[in-house]
Amino acid sequence: MAFTIAIDGPAAAGKGTISKAIAAHFGFAHLDTGLLYRAVGARTLDGTDPIDAARALTAEDLAADSLRTPEVAQAASRVAVIGEVRAALVDFQRAFARRAGGAVLDGRDIGTVICPEAEAKLFVTASAEVRAERRYLELIGKGHDASREAVLADVKERDARDMERAEAPLKPAEDAVLIDTSELAIDAAVQAAIAAVEAQRA
Ligand code: DC
Repeated sequence: MAFTIAIDGPAAAGKGTISKAIAAHFGFAHLDTGLLYRAVGARTLDGTDPIDAARALTAEDLAADSLRTPEVAQAASRVAVIGEVRAALVDFQRAFARRAGGAVLDGRDIGTVICPEAEAKLFVTASAEVRAERRYLELIGKGHDASREAVLADVKERDARDMERAEAPLKPAEDAVLIDTSELAIDAAVQAAIAAVEAQRA
């Protein structure tokens, strides 16, 4: 049986944590689609053409720890505006979404473009300030040098680029359930997300 859960939202809203927890809860496979754009973005940092990089992407490219840096996140957001880059990544995402046994995909355009027929759709968001604070604490926790102001500016810049681009901009699908995690602890956000999926499954 194929069952797709589409989870979209801006950077650091809690999509990753919620998606992993939902996949574990339902026993579904999980794809963090941001990694596809990060892997392409990372290749452009050493001079590769983004469209060539997207067309040549392999599963091994998605495993690198180095994809989690702010520089790669910005590069990902920049290559994500290119229509040919997005087009090169569509088939892989759609095949993953319809695999037998169920799938959770998180990203920016899963419920709107990649899988508009998904059985359950969530849009996970939080204020830019809350998201920046979470990202700042995560970076400091990993031993990176970071300032609150720089992280907030980075989050806002990426939000603007992701929401204003012409191709598959970040926005909730009309039938997505909105979950604002600004005031929610992780457990409460996960419970709210599971309840929303259960309600859409019924
Ligand atoms: O979710 P993330 O922070 O790893 O995503 C990195 C960038 O990739 C994000 O700023 C925009 C882009 N992206 C996208 O355009 N579409 C997706 N489905 C996922 C990510």
